[in-house]
Parts: sequence; C-alpha cells; structure tokens
Amino acid sequence: MATHQENKDIAIGQLKNISTWVSSVQDLNQLLELILHTGTRIMRAKASSLLLLDQKTQKLYFKVTTGTQKDKMKNFEISLGQGIVGHVAETGEPLLIEDVAQDKRWYRNISDEIGFKTQSILCVPMKVKDNVIGAIEFINKAEGEAFQKSDLELLNVFADVAALAIVNAKKFQIAERENKGLKQALGFTHLIIGQSKDIKEVVADALKVADSKASTLILGESGTGKELLARLIHQTSSRKERYMVTLNCAAVPETLLEDELFGHEKGSFTGANERKIGKLELADGSTLFLDEIGEMSPAMQAKVLRVLQDGIFYRVGGNTPISVDIRIIAATNQNLSEGIAKGEFREDLYYRLNVVELHMPPLRERKKDIPLIARHFVDMFQKEKGHFQIEVSPAAMDIMTKYDWPGNVRELRNAIERAVVMGNGREILPEDLPILNTQSNIESIEFGHTLQEAVDDFKKKFIKVNLEHTNGNQSKAAAVMGIQRTYLSRLISKYDMKK
Ligand SMILES: Nc1ncnc2c1ncn2[C@@H]1O[C@H](COP(=O)(O)OP(=O)(O)O)[C@@H](O)[C@H]1O
Ligand SMILES: [Mg+2]
Repeated sequence: MATHQENKDIAIGQLKNISTWVSSVQDLNQLLELILHTGTRIMRAKASSLLLLDQKTQKLYFKVTTGTQKDKMKNFEISLGQGIVGHVAETGEPLLIEDVAQDKRWYRNISDEIGFKTQSILCVPMKVKDNVIGAIEFINKAEGEAFQKSDLELLNVFADVAALAIVNAKKFQIAERENKGLKQALGFTHLIIGQSKDIKEVVADALKVADSKASTLILGESGTGKELLARLIHQTSSRKERYMVTLNCAAVPETLLEDELFGHEKGSFTGANERKIGKLELADGSTLFLDEIGEMSPAMQAKVLRVLQDGIFYRVGGNTPISVDIRIIAATNQNLSEGIAKGEFREDLYYRLNVVELHMPPLRERKKDIPLIARHFVDMFQKEKGHFQIEVSPAAMDIMTKYDWPGNVRELRNAIERAVVMGNGREILPEDLPILNTQSNIESIEFGHTLQEAVDDFKKKFIKVNLEHTNGNQSKAAAVMGIQRTYLSRLISKYDMKK
C-alpha cells in the first residue's frame, strides 16, 4: 500500500500539474476549489465538501462544495459534534462510513432537505499543528464502489495540502493576497496568464470539465488562446499520459481531411502504398483537438458526426470497424449559429460538440491582463535571446494597454518578440513596438490643397498604416479603425489602393 509520503507526492504532483498550466489560480477560494475538485476526481466521489470552523461561533460552514446539489449546501451550518462531519471536527479523528443509514452519528436532515441520497461518507479533519480548522468530506463513491482505507489516506493528504494553502494564504495576506508561498513551494510556472475575471472563470470551468469525457467547444477570436485552453483541459484530465492529437481543419485541404482523420488501408487508392493510421486512431484513449472546426465541409461534418455517435469508424478502403475512445475538443473563431442558419454547419454536429461551451474573451475586453501577459512574453523572449532582465518602459506599456489588439494574444506575443529583438536589450521603448506607428505623424500639411484633398490624403495614409499592421487583413484593420469592413473595402477601391 502507498505510504503517506507517496500519496502526498501523488497529490502534490496533481496540483503541480494543474498549476503549471494556470497562473490565475491565485486566490484562496480558487485554490481550495481546485484542491477539492482534484480530490473528488481522483477518489471518484459523487460529491464533496470542504468545511471551515468559524473560530468565533464554533460552527462549521461550507466553504467549497461539489456535486449536483452543491449550491444548496451553502445555507447550512453544522455544530461541533453534530453529524459525521461535526463528529470528525470535534474529535479530530477521520471516519469512513460505508452505510450511513446504519450509523447513529449520521445527521440526515441535510441530505433529506437538499434531496441527495447519501450512502457512504469519508471524512477527515483539516488541522494546523494540532488544531482542527475544518474538515473535508467525500460522499458516495462512483458506481457501486466502496471507499477504501487507501482513499482515507489519500484524503488525509488533500486535507494537509488544503490546510497548508489556508495557512499560507493567511501568512501572505498582508504582503500579497495571493498565496505565492504555496505557488513557489509547488514550483509553479505560468502558462495561461491572466487575472481578469473572464479568464479566471473560463479557466475554472475548463478545470471542472477536464476529467469528464464531455465534448467541449471553445469559441473565441483568433489568437485568444483557444488552443492553450484545449491543452490545459487535456493536461489536467486523466488522459494526460497520452499526447493530445491536433487536427487543424483549415490547414488541410478538404480532399486530404478524410485521409488525415480516418487513415487508409494499403492499396485503397493509387499511391496508398502503406497502411496509414489516421488521427482518430492516434487519439484513441486520448484527446482529439479539432481546430478551426468551422472550416470543415458539411460532407466531412456528417462523417465526423457518425464517429461521435457510434464510436466506430472505418479506415478509407477498409471494412473492419475500428472502435475508439476519444475525448473531443473543438475550437473555432466563427459564429457557428450563423453557419447553421446559412446551412454551412450541421446543427446536429454542433449539439454533439458543444456539450460544454467555453468562450475565450478577446484581449481588448480584458485589458487588465495586458501588462501581465506582456511581462510574461518579455521574460520568455529575453531568456531565449540570452538577454538579461529587460524592462518595459511606462510609455510602451501605456501604448500596449490602450491598443485594441485585433490579433489578440498572438499579436501581442509577436509584438513583444519583435521588440525584444529590435530593441536596445535593456528597455522596451514605444518605438520598438510596431503598433506605435499607428499614432504616426501627419508630416506634410501643405498649402494649396482643398480640405477634401487633405482629408482624402489622410484617409489613404491612415488605411495604409492599419493594413500594414494587420498584414493586409481588412476585417482586422476595419475593426481597429472602428469602421465596417464593407466601408473599408469601398474606400480601398475608391483610392485605388489594391495591390
Ligand atoms: N492567457 C495567455 N497567457 C499566455 N499566453 C497566451 C495566452 N493566451 C494565448 N497565449 C499565447 O498566444 C498564442 C495564441 O494562442 P492560441 O491558443 O494559439 O490561440 P487561438 O487558438 O485562439 O488562435 C500562443 O502562442 C499562446 O501560447
Ligand atoms: Mg488556433
């Protein structure tokens, strides 16, 4: 049987894994939630609660809850000695009860009131030194399994980690509200950077669905981090030992898409000299990330839908059904509802894919994150380039925060990379940023033109600059300039600016 230390390593490993991917798990609540969700998942419990002891009233209150009835729990308070959890908090001893109905200590009121059928309970105290500060309880193991003594030991570890998180959070509350201490202890690195409410929410939702098999659809503009989020989901799921398989539906020509997905048998068409294993087969037991799903043709959509429905498919030219166990994550920057209305996207596939729908907000709607993400990329690129600490000048940061980033985080990343390469190696200045030129000088105001001519001249230059900075992408340029794309294209024709 695993020792306490081994179990602790497993639990810390789990948390580390999650935290490697997320920088926004910073406040105590979120951390406790993460700890509880992770524990529930590992233990395969149906519900769980983390209760804290209010030192003044000596009552236990529900701090974090999971399970179908979780929101109803928050209304209850439990006295020391009351029910299983009250008992555990009072004695400081864990309890494992396989059939609560047989146990006199069970306090059935809560279960009755919230309409949850409790069968078994595993409950451990959370202690700091020898003082009980709360308790964690897990309820009903999945499908006919019973809690084991080894579960109890593992739960003890989670309780320790949670208690550590709480102590750390308190310790650091004054200096910095985030419990940096714990983060450092766990060796956190940052990947999904962000402190804005939107990002925190989408990350929290992603972590919640990570270990289910639910198909997940990630929506959001290009460059917002959809693929990053897909990786987070995969990396924190039980499938993480296998690689996530990615298929970019926009990058593969329609004629090859079927071959890429399904593979083929040797000799199934001219040139098929070898059997080819498709991405569906490669992703067996893992996650398949279908990027840019909005670009898939209706015919291909129908084929994918069939696989999702039946769980089996055939290699091209083959007649042996191949069954696979795949978790699908799909992403698109398109508005699929519009696609459905136009008959370009199959509604039935849409419903299959978006069992869970996550939305990555555009960067301009979370400007608060810009300095953090910018700093993150500066650190990353300065390291790659072998530079020492490079600062971002306040003026440069100001420009970055004001800019709308139509290409989102990807554009910010590219801008920083360029600035690190082009800059003086010490400080990023406004002129190192390509976006600066958008605020450029109107150099020549000459005498002898009509106002109309001057305005036309300005418009031309203005459009040119914006097109340059969006790589000629008219939609993005129009978005930055705050005009309709159709209007922009009319102006381009009018001024004869087509290349
Ligand atoms: N919140 C974030 N923190 C750090 N890097 C990010 C974040 N969001 C996106 N990135 C980075 O920006 C780039 C674009 O992200 P990606 O996931 O490919 O976007 P999308 O798939 O939505 O187009 C990648 O290099 C990614 O690592
Ligand atoms: Mg992408």
